[in-house]
Amino acid sequence: MNTLYPVHYLGSHSEGNTRPQLFELSDGNKYLVKFKNNPQGTRVLVNDWVAGKLALLLGLPVAPFALVYFSKSHFNQFPELYKYGFKPGHQFASYLLKNCTGLWEPRNSGEIANLNVLPGVIVFDYWVNNYDRDTGNALLEKVSKNTCYLHLIDHGLCFPIGSWTKKNSQKVYVNILDQDVHTWAVTRIENPKDLLKFTEKVLSLPSEQIYKVINSIPEDWNVASSEKEAVYQYLITRREVLPILMLKFIKKYFHKD
Ligand SMILES: Nc1ncnc2c1ncn2[C@@H]1O[C@H](COP(=O)(O)OP(=O)(O)O)[C@@H](O)[C@H]1O
Ligand SMILES: [Mg+2]
Repeated sequence: MNTLYPVHYLGSHSEGNTRPQLFELSDGNKYLVKFKNNPQGTRVLVNDWVAGKLALLLGLPVAPFALVYFSKSHFNQFPELYKYGFKPGHQFASYLLKNCTGLWEPRNSGEIANLNVLPGVIVFDYWVNNYDRDTGNALLEKVSKNTCYLHLIDHGLCFPIGSWTKKNSQKVYVNILDQDVHTWAVTRIENPKDLLKFTEKVLSLPSEQIYKVINSIPEDWNVASSEKEAVYQYLITRREVLPILMLKFIKKYFHKD
């Protein structure tokens, strides 16, 4: 696996409950790094990694991400990290996109070049139970005067709510997630059938690929094999109910009367 290491510390990012930190990494690029033992816990890194990888398998525009390794001596080199209570080891790094805002700002001005991904974003979020697709977690990158490009970030709050136990992973609710980005997206989706088409894509994703993603979680993120098994089962069960979920979604947002 292509693991990066830190080169320069560029400061703390003002936003974010996980206290992400800006670094230049060994590939010469800038990244926002989320650390082990951040205020929301190490599980958000695991979620970001697993959900991000699944989104990539489905061809969704996740901001590029990678693992970065911070040794103890890196922590000594950047002692600010101790201040937050972070822990050395593998961390989650999201490639820093420039000229970005959350989805709130220019969404009414300028064209979103990859608007065709919206049905996929909704279906994906329902599959992984992403209950944090607020307008800060979908970024619009301005690529020219009148054009921007949508990127997905922050999959820290996905999968079963609570710990990854067998019991929690069996709780697969067929409920509407009510996320800001989704309610906006429905105003831009012409044909709700596109949601069902993308559902087919999720259903045809080979289970081995899902398994492989879960098995790529770094060892030092301390996910037990029983937890991996639980989240795998959760994803399999949740995609079985995905067609029902999407019909419910379409009924609520496209056939209001
Ligand atoms: N790859 C990125 N490029 C540019 N800005 C980013 C990127 N990732 C995160 N951000 C910014 O940092 C904020 C916090 O990051 P996020 O992943 O949402 O962390 P948190 O889990 O703390 O909400 C985001 O709302 C966004 O403004
Ligand atoms: Mg966020």
